[in-house]
Amino acid sequence: MKLYNDKIRIIPFEQDHWPVIYAWASSGCYDYFFGNSGPYTGAMCAEFNKGGINFIIVNANDIQEVFGMISVSQIDDRSRNFHYNILVDKNHRRKGYAKEASELALFHMFNNLNYYKAIALVGDGNPESKALTEGFGFDHEAILKQEVYLDGEFKDVERFRMLKGTFNKLYKQKLGA
Ligand SMILES: CC(C)(COP(=O)(O)OP(=O)(O)OC[C@H]1O[C@@H](n2cnc3c(N)ncnc32)[C@H](O)[C@@H]1OP(=O)(O)O)[C@@H](O)C(=O)NCCC(=O)NCCS
Repeated sequence: MKLYNDKIRIIPFEQDHWPVIYAWASSGCYDYFFGNSGPYTGAMCAEFNKGGINFIIVNANDIQEVFGMISVSQIDDRSRNFHYNILVDKNHRRKGYAKEASELALFHMFNNLNYYKAIALVGDGNPESKALTEGFGFDHEAILKQEVYLDGEFKDVERFRMLKGTFNKLYKQKLGA
C-alpha cells in the first residue's frame, strides 16, 4: 500500500530532518508532543525516540516541504501494540493533514507490520488533539489521573485506543486496499 495521496506523503525520519524537529522541540509551541523539554541538546536529539518508528509528513509533490511528524513509540512486539503521536506544524494546520497522515501511518502499522492496537494519550488542555483523536474513531479507554507534569502542574491524560479491526472497518475500503 502506498504511503501517499495527492496532498501528502509520509516518509521515514532521517538525520536530515533534525533541524526541523529541533526547531519544533525548542520552540515551546509543541509541548504536548515533546513535553517541556526546553532547548534540545545534541544528546537529546541522538536519543530521540530510539527504537521507535518516526515518519515525517511532507508535501506529496515536494518532499523538502515538511508539514509535520508522526511518532510511533513504546512498541510492544509481543502484544502487538504501540503508542501513536502526531504533530502538524502551526503553519499547516486545519488542512486535513493530521487525519490523512494518520490514515496512511496506521494502515501501515496494522496491515503491513501486523500490529493490533494503537494507543493515543491526550493531555488535559489539548482540545485540538482530543477532537482529532475522537473524530478519527479512537475509543476512550481510561483517564490517567495527574499523569504528566506540564506547564507547572500535574495534568490528567485521556488514553484512547484504536484496534486493527476497527481501523480496517473505518478506513480500509476508503484507502482502496
Ligand atoms: C492535533 C493536530 C495534530 C491536528 O493537526 P491538523 O492537521 O490541524 O488536523 P486536521 O486538519 O487533520 O484535522 C482533523 C480533525 O482534528 C480536529 N481538529 C484539528 N484542529 C482542531 C482545532 N483547532 N479545533 C477543533 N478541532 C480540531 C477536527 O476534528 C478536525 O476535523 P474537521 O476538520 O473535519 O473538523 C495539531 O493541532 C497539532 O500538531 N497539535 C500540537 C501537537 C499535539 O498536541 N499533538 C498531540 C500530542 S498528545
